Amino acid sequence: MNNEQPINTDSPKDWNRETQVSWNTNASVWDAKMGDDGNDFHRLLVRLATEKLLEVKEGDRILDIGCGNGIFSRRLASLGAKVVGIDFSEQLIACAVERTQVQDAIAYHVIDATDETALLSLGENSFDAAISAMALMDMAEIAPLFRALTKLLKPQGCFVFSVMHPCFNNPHISMVAEETESDGEIKTDYSIKVSKYLQPTITYGLALRNQPKPHLYFHRPIHLLLGEAFRVGFVLNGLEEPAFPANYPNDYLLVWGSNFSEIPPVLVVRLKLLA
Ligand SMILES: C[S@@+](CC[C@H](N)C(=O)[O-])C[C@H]1O[C@@H](n2cnc3c(N)ncnc32)[C@H](O)[C@@H]1O
Repeated sequence: MNNEQPINTDSPKDWNRETQVSWNTNASVWDAKMGDDGNDFHRLLVRLATEKLLEVKEGDRILDIGCGNGIFSRRLASLGAKVVGIDFSEQLIACAVERTQVQDAIAYHVIDATDETALLSLGENSFDAAISAMALMDMAEIAPLFRALTKLLKPQGCFVFSVMHPCFNNPHISMVAEETESDGEIKTDYSIKVSKYLQPTITYGLALRNQPKPHLYFHRPIHLLLGEAFRVGFVLNGLEEPAFPANYPNDYLLVWGSNFSEIPPVLVVRLKLLA
């Protein structure tokens, strides 16, 4: 995913606009890939770990931030939650509405998660929990979201989010397969080569190989990612690092799958507000 083209924009507002154009442009390809229920990456890694940390209860009111075509919103609704799904891509929200049955208790809104005032219009102290599935590394700014969440969540509420693992699945990694011959046997070892981690970076990348327009990735090392949350009073009280199981079928050599079952492509964390 090393796609370090120069970025022609110079402020978070420009980056955000550029990101929004990309997600609108890529919406139909993304929607076709994720379908009603998500792909294996979503179901086996993101969903399982998020649900483990979230512990959804019937009737919980949950905010899904960067909901895309609504895969997680629908899943949460099927578990009995009342869901509000937000995304700044009008096109993806249209896909989400299209794929959602009237009886699902989901309200979708086009809202920019970098706009604190717009977020607060959703209602202070009105959510039992919030989630964000694989979206924070796509957001130009995350401080406004964390600030807003301190007000949107009820006192015992939690925020569970997943991101591309900043250590092992950032825009500066290479996936490596090395073949060796030893004692008459050929063996392949798989590893991840990390060339950058500590500096935050903004680079173009591809979430899907066939997406029409590359979009910006906002890589943040873990201390900066969580530092934004700690600054406004969140504490970390749950963490998962899911990887594909060793028996997962591997169709290709160098994609996330059982070849990399020892290396987590996703980081999932649960944050709570200090009482
Ligand atoms: C990788 S997709 C994940 C979508 C969905 N959560 C899923 O799991 O399929 C990232 C999503 O974040 C959304 N996004 C990025 N920046 C955003 C922002 N500033 N406000 C709202 N949504 C944003 C994109 O439009 C896109 O739908």
